[in-house]
Amino acid sequence: TVPVVTIDGPSGSGKGTICQLLAKELGWHLLDSGALYRIVGLAAERKGVPFDDDAALADLAANLDVEFRPGEPGEPSAVLLDGEDISNEVRSETTGTLASYVAVHNPVRDALKGLQRGFAKSPGLVADGRDMGTVIFTDAPVKIYLIASAEERAERRYKQLKAKGESVNLAALLKDIQLRDERDMNRPVAPLKPADDAIVIDSTGTAIEDVFKQVLDKVKS
Ligand code: CDP
Repeated sequence: TVPVVTIDGPSGSGKGTICQLLAKELGWHLLDSGALYRIVGLAAERKGVPFDDDAALADLAANLDVEFRPGEPGEPSAVLLDGEDISNEVRSETTGTLASYVAVHNPVRDALKGLQRGFAKSPGLVADGRDMGTVIFTDAPVKIYLIASAEERAERRYKQLKAKGESVNLAALLKDIQLRDERDMNRPVAPLKPADDAIVIDSTGTAIEDVFKQVLDKVKS
């Protein structure tokens, strides 16, 4: 079987960066599962599908015309929906909120399962998300759960979005992150929590390079 490392955790915990670094270091594939939920959220908004219509949302999720184009080393891949480059919109904070609305519906999560598991190809996979270790890749030999204080996560997100030229407000971001955490942790299906066999790493006050070293240590041991 193909080796899989799962990295789960809340918004802004540094998962995305760590997963990219790790995939590059190991030469493995990368699954950004959040991007899939973001794409479904965007597609629903564009097509006017109501956010409480779980059957229609699942139908959208099952029939996504989506393509990932690998970017330069260290750069996230470009995302194309119906052939249109939506990379910038996908990463916006508004889209993250749309994602967390569609992600509460079990039929949507089911519709994305096969697609996600299909990313596990030789030589290996680094899987980034909320339920990689608890639902999608339960047999993964290494499971990491990354956390950090909400304040620090809001600050990291603030810097990220500002660097991209988005107009952002730190207090609003913190509120947003707290609401999204609440929605992700309290939903009935695949709630955000560490798998029983996950290694929990708290990155509050730790530079991302040092978190990466800790993760790499666990993967290699
Ligand atoms: O980058 P950030 O951590 O803020 O968000 P993301 O990983 O792109 O995920 C966006 C939203 O999608 C989350 O808030 C979750 O509601 C949902 N999601 C999920 O339910 N399951 C996953 N495996 C990944 C994301």
